[in-house]
Amino acid sequence: MMAKQPSPIRVGIVGFGTVGQATAAIIAAHQAEIVQRVGRPLEITAVCRRHFPADLVLPPGARVVTDWRAVVTAPDVDLLVETMGGTTTARDVIAAALRAGKPVVTANKNLLAEHGDELFALAVQQGLPLGFEAAVAGGVPVIRAVAEGAAGDRLHRVFGILNGTANFILTRMQQTGADFTAALIEAQAAGYAEADPAFDVDGFDARDKLVILARIAFGGRVTPADIPTLGIRAIRAVDIHYARRLDSTIRLIASAARGPAGVEIAVRPWLVPLHSMLARVEGVNNAVFLDGQKLGLQMFYGRGAGGDATGVAVVSDLIELASDLGAGNLAPKLLAGFGAGSPLVLSQNPEPASWYLRLTVGDRPGILAHVAEALAHEGINIDSVIQEPHMEKQCLSFVITVEPVAEPVVLRALGVINQCPFMLEPVLLLRMDG
Ligand SMILES: NC(=O)c1ccc[n+]([C@@H]2O[C@H](COP(=O)([O-])OP(=O)(O)OC[C@H]3O[C@@H](n4cnc5c(N)ncnc54)[C@H](OP(=O)(O)O)[C@@H]3O)[C@@H](O)[C@H]2O)c1
Repeated sequence: MMAKQPSPIRVGIVGFGTVGQATAAIIAAHQAEIVQRVGRPLEITAVCRRHFPADLVLPPGARVVTDWRAVVTAPDVDLLVETMGGTTTARDVIAAALRAGKPVVTANKNLLAEHGDELFALAVQQGLPLGFEAAVAGGVPVIRAVAEGAAGDRLHRVFGILNGTANFILTRMQQTGADFTAALIEAQAAGYAEADPAFDVDGFDARDKLVILARIAFGGRVTPADIPTLGIRAIRAVDIHYARRLDSTIRLIASAARGPAGVEIAVRPWLVPLHSMLARVEGVNNAVFLDGQKLGLQMFYGRGAGGDATGVAVVSDLIELASDLGAGNLAPKLLAGFGAGSPLVLSQNPEPASWYLRLTVGDRPGILAHVAEALAHEGINIDSVIQEPHMEKQCLSFVITVEPVAEPVVLRALGVINQCPFMLEPVLLLRMDG
């Protein structure tokens, strides 16, 4: 007599694009391992998108629907995957699925950063899990690392390179000497940047991921609007050049650090030493660093985006949720920092840091004296002044690095310097990693 096949756990996917399709392909390819872990197979019973191209590969036997409502409440869907993106319909999709009693897995950092409180509160109310490993750093399992692996420690700081597109552009600028625009065009041609790259290059994607990481690392509420965010558009080839003269390069760093005055949090480009681990994160890779009281520094590194890497994270969540569902053990999870928690106290008093100032000026005598005076007026000590010889006199760029000082003090000095008639554009201020 044949052994009875265990009944499948049925999955509906709303948003059948890059990540949704990769999720389906991984479930098909890894079914044996899934059965080993869950005890039952996963079966995709419904996929939803608005347009179905003729050459789209569909999971065998799955219904195709264009209205998400036909998936989220369907009796043949036990678990829902939301991989459509956006913050409007996706919010309704997840809320409707939770209300219908279905656990949800999402890759949508944008939505969780904006509306995480509401959705996690609903998950708690419904007693259901909401998996979101795929929302930060794609395939790098950093959500579990922070929320579970490092739960026994007290984290001081979580930081890293959270946007592969921006990192690709900065890496190409470093490798080829290209300017920002040329490197962006290359990223777009390679499929690493959208036609409208704002979300990636202006730092908003990294900011949303930092919201999620900071919340689960420090157990309090922080919103995208709380995070000062500066992208990489203002970085020029000359900055990469001067950075190299300082044995450094430039990376877009998302960082949340807990100090006596509260949490200092920002997304901004940093000068990082060439020999540092941050500098060695190249191309579209991501890296997340956790600094714990007992653990010290830990680094998680890998492919932060792409269908396959992100699909693996979605399937990992599905395996966990399906196991819990099979065991009758469904419960809300990983909620520290979301929902009812109090807001994180944000520092109004940032720690001193070293700074890189790039000035672009029209040549005339006495510029350095003016700038030095403005810095000295704020008690700022100059560490070095670098200027390449033979630059065009009408528009020359030089760099001043300054000894550690709190950012508001530098900004006061820049307020004066930027008003000087010889300044052709505002000073570019980059933080330097000590
Ligand atoms: N791609 C990555 O590397 C990556 C990495 C990490 C996280 N994520 C996240 O994963 C999510 C999906 O990203 P993706 O790259 O897979 O996007 P995508 O390729 O654009 O896929 C989105 C899918 O959703 C469908 N869709 C959009 N609006 C819909 C609606 N109202 N009703 C039904 N279907 C709808 C789209 O098809 P139609 O237009 O035909 O409806 C498309 O198939 C996003 O939240 C993203 O931030 C992506």
